[in-house]
Amino acid sequence: MNDPNGMFIDAHGTYHLYYQYNPTGIVAGNQHWGHATSKDLYHWVNQQIAIFPPDAHSNIYSGSAVVDVDNTSGFFPHQNNGVVAVYTINTPTSQTQALSYSIDGGYTFRPYSGNPVLSDNSSQFRDPKVIWHAPTQQWVMAVAYAQALTLGFFTSPNLKDWEHVSNFSHHGLPGDQYECPNLVEIRMEGQKEPMYLLTISINPGAPLGGSITQYFPGFFNGTVFTPVDGAARISDFGKDNYAGQFFYGIPGDRDQISIAWTSNWQYSQLVPTGPSEGWRSSMSLPRVNYLKNLSRVGYDLVSVPYSLSPVINTTSSLVQKTIVGNGSVRLDYSSGASGALYFQINITDIPTANISGTANFTFLSSRSGESVRAGYFLAPDSAFFIDRGNTRGFDNPFFTDKFSTSCPYNSSASSYTWRVEGVIDRSILEVFIDGGESSATVTFFPEQELDTLVINAGDLNPGVTVSAAVHGLDSAWA
Ligand code: FRU
Repeated sequence: MNDPNGMFIDAHGTYHLYYQYNPTGIVAGNQHWGHATSKDLYHWVNQQIAIFPPDAHSNIYSGSAVVDVDNTSGFFPHQNNGVVAVYTINTPTSQTQALSYSIDGGYTFRPYSGNPVLSDNSSQFRDPKVIWHAPTQQWVMAVAYAQALTLGFFTSPNLKDWEHVSNFSHHGLPGDQYECPNLVEIRMEGQKEPMYLLTISINPGAPLGGSITQYFPGFFNGTVFTPVDGAARISDFGKDNYAGQFFYGIPGDRDQISIAWTSNWQYSQLVPTGPSEGWRSSMSLPRVNYLKNLSRVGYDLVSVPYSLSPVINTTSSLVQKTIVGNGSVRLDYSSGASGALYFQINITDIPTANISGTANFTFLSSRSGESVRAGYFLAPDSAFFIDRGNTRGFDNPFFTDKFSTSCPYNSSASSYTWRVEGVIDRSILEVFIDGGESSATVTFFPEQELDTLVINAGDLNPGVTVSAAVHGLDSAWA
């Protein structure tokens, strides 16, 4: 699988996640829309394939889904829970936008007989994301003219007839292609009026290589998107977070929930997968997102994991440790039900902004010595790093070892603090720094499982406190 598609929440609170799916192989190709549902965003039930290609030369590429409550489309004369999927039909010579509709709440779909609904005589025109714009009472579509590095905005009263209203072109990082745009109304901290967030996934040509997603906080008046400034911002400082999408159906003044694909097109088709497992790739944690104005960078997309309470394992041991000065703590989590862990590490009581030292945490294989390491360098660097290089299961020139980001302290009344939380799940590490002001998604492939967490705060100034909390996580398979 690759991109998440068609994400929406229905009136019963069920989250629907569709995804780019090849049912006949473990590389991309023969794309269908797979489908999974969840009540809590952690326990998922895989459903039947939702959308099939119309013929052997076509693929169903990425797109979005909406609930047509008022039957604007005319597909749903007898119900208010009809679902319309808007996606790209890819053929060897063309990419066009098409509709399928579902009268059973998103489980089975019929193609619209008038497909395609939008075409540009192009083979590089894809990934429609549709939202309802209440002030102008119309549907809005953002769609990528991929190799022209341009998004087109279209509006429609009925999801079938689309009018071109504006373009958003050559903003931020160009990369080689624009893909998978998302437009969502989103809460802005400390402000009553929500703003809009536009995301554009670029591939290839990301700064670290391959694919990554950039975002633009801004304003949208129903036809034109205006970014707050000219800055380019990246949603993740790792390399394995792509094509993320926001759930349709969450009110615009709230935090928005996203899920992304945890891979990178530079190596997604090559990373190891067990022959007995028969699958490759997975999705990120569900993330809660909002905008915040940070003094150092201006508007920032803040992302943290959606509440993990449905999977926090209350029977497995919970570790709460305070490490003062010299110390480290070793945790064996191989007995946890799923092998996945949530961790939180806080450095507090940093007396001045100039104090130096490091605090590291290492996920280690006690059998092979392989590891994934991460940590924080205090002054003068104020930077966080992740190093996945000491794992031996996958070697590739583009499988970059090390990532870092700058992350200054947060100051409280008399001292400074720094904190990180995250989830490690067998071959994915997601970290969220300082309440989600920065985040990273990193995949890794050790030959032996990483079964031990070592936290080392040995060379910190004696007054500085390091505390760690670690919880086992239950399996996500319902
Ligand atoms: C992004 C992407 C989309 C396309 C889909 C094909 O990862 O390349 O542009 O619709 O994947 O699977």
